[in-house]
Amino acid sequence: MKEILELPGFLAPSGTLGADVSYLLAVVFTVLFLVAWRFAKKAEGTKHHKLILVSTISMVVYFCAYYYARQLGVLSFEGKEGFGGPKEVYDNVFIPTLTTHLVLVTLGLIMAFYMLIEGFRASEKVNGEFVLKAGELKVGAKSFKIVMFTILGLWSVNQIFLTTVRHASIGVNVAWGLIFGTIALVVSLEKLVEKILPDGARRHRILGRGTMIIYGLLLITSTATYLMLYVIYPAK
Ligand code: HEM
Repeated sequence: MKEILELPGFLAPSGTLGADVSYLLAVVFTVLFLVAWRFAKKAEGTKHHKLILVSTISMVVYFCAYYYARQLGVLSFEGKEGFGGPKEVYDNVFIPTLTTHLVLVTLGLIMAFYMLIEGFRASEKVNGEFVLKAGELKVGAKSFKIVMFTILGLWSVNQIFLTTVRHASIGVNVAWGLIFGTIALVVSLEKLVEKILPDGARRHRILGRGTMIIYGLLLITSTATYLMLYVIYPAK
């Protein structure tokens, strides 16, 4: 797989197949999200919901497959090996851009899951069209406990599988711990978000716009990283 990803690309003379496909898909997913935003702005709730659903699922599948194939961290490693520009540009421009990009990727993924669930909770179907319902949107104490215990249960089952079947390394255990910990943290943060933005519809619009801005910034940082690595400062 690694060999295929390292074949010459088709976008820039120094690009690799992996980098080009990854960049093109990043553009496609961002454009899909921005089109979904336009649907929401035009009050076409159902089209907005369908496009968001399809793009989020395909983005997550691509993201997992791509990072599994290249292994996490390879991107920054490749940056060091593949960056042919001056050291000042590497330290002051490339690394800050790449770091911002990776932070935005993490935030974007978390917000995609959060907004999907919030979207269903905050809307209802009226004459076949999804519309946001105004009014307070809260997780009841009982549902909150059920969700938290479900997360704990899934983590425990996964731990048993990791230790008995996969004999996974400590790193893999920590990675899964972080994933489940982040989910539990986001669910707990919902309690705080409910206090700040009690109205579900307003919460969806405000956090939704924030999420869309993250996707826009993701496109800018991935374009900048791609240009620096493969067009402006390719490795000599
Ligand atoms: C990643 C997930 C999502 C994001 C980022 C998102 C973002 C947004 C944004 C930014 C708006 C307000 C548009 C504006 O006025 O600027 C909006 C409105 C809306 N969203 Fe979402 N959304 C997401 C998922 C969902 C889902 C899953 C549903 C339904 C199940 C949904 C239903 C709606 C509805 C009905 C509106 C109101 C449209 C109107 O004004 O009539 N959204 N969304």
